[in-house]
Amino acid sequence: MNVGIITISDRASKGLYDDLGGPALKKTSTENGWTVLAEALVPDEKGDIQRAIREQINRGCVLVLTTGGTGVAQRDVTPEAVIEIADRELPGFGEIMRMESMKITRNAILSRSLAVVVGRTLIICLPGKPSGAVECLGFVTGAIPHCIEVLQEVPTSC
Ligand code: MTE
Repeated sequence: MNVGIITISDRASKGLYDDLGGPALKKTSTENGWTVLAEALVPDEKGDIQRAIREQINRGCVLVLTTGGTGVAQRDVTPEAVIEIADRELPGFGEIMRMESMKITRNAILSRSLAVVVGRTLIICLPGKPSGAVECLGFVTGAIPHCIEVLQEVPTSC
């Protein structure tokens, strides 16, 4: 399964600190047996986020993982950027990510993590904290293969 990873962070994109979230998601993706086809690092700007997602879709990614920009800070615009280009939302992903994360940190309620479909690609938007991104991905990984199969219209048994 070809995967794209996008880190969304003003400071990391300016080189003010190292991007740890992208590499953490790459490691988890590889451990899941997925192929990381594309990686990007963009500032918290709606246009940059949307362009990076479209680029990765055009390169053949059937799953795009983003990390960052899901919180309540003024510059956090990931959900708005993604919803603008989404064909549909999959609310269950955000619901489960928040519900499970609340068992780890009370701040999980501040995350607007979500998943949407753009064309035939699943986009999952994870929190910016590297451990939070990996944890949240883990909570929803079980549903990803079937979701991708249905989106790509691969015949399945259910
Ligand atoms: N979810 C998990 N599982 N683990 C975490 O450490 N951090 C939270 C939350 N979700 C966290 C988490 C914090 S501190 C914030 S501010 C929000 O995600 C939003 O993160 P973001 O604005 O960096 O995307």
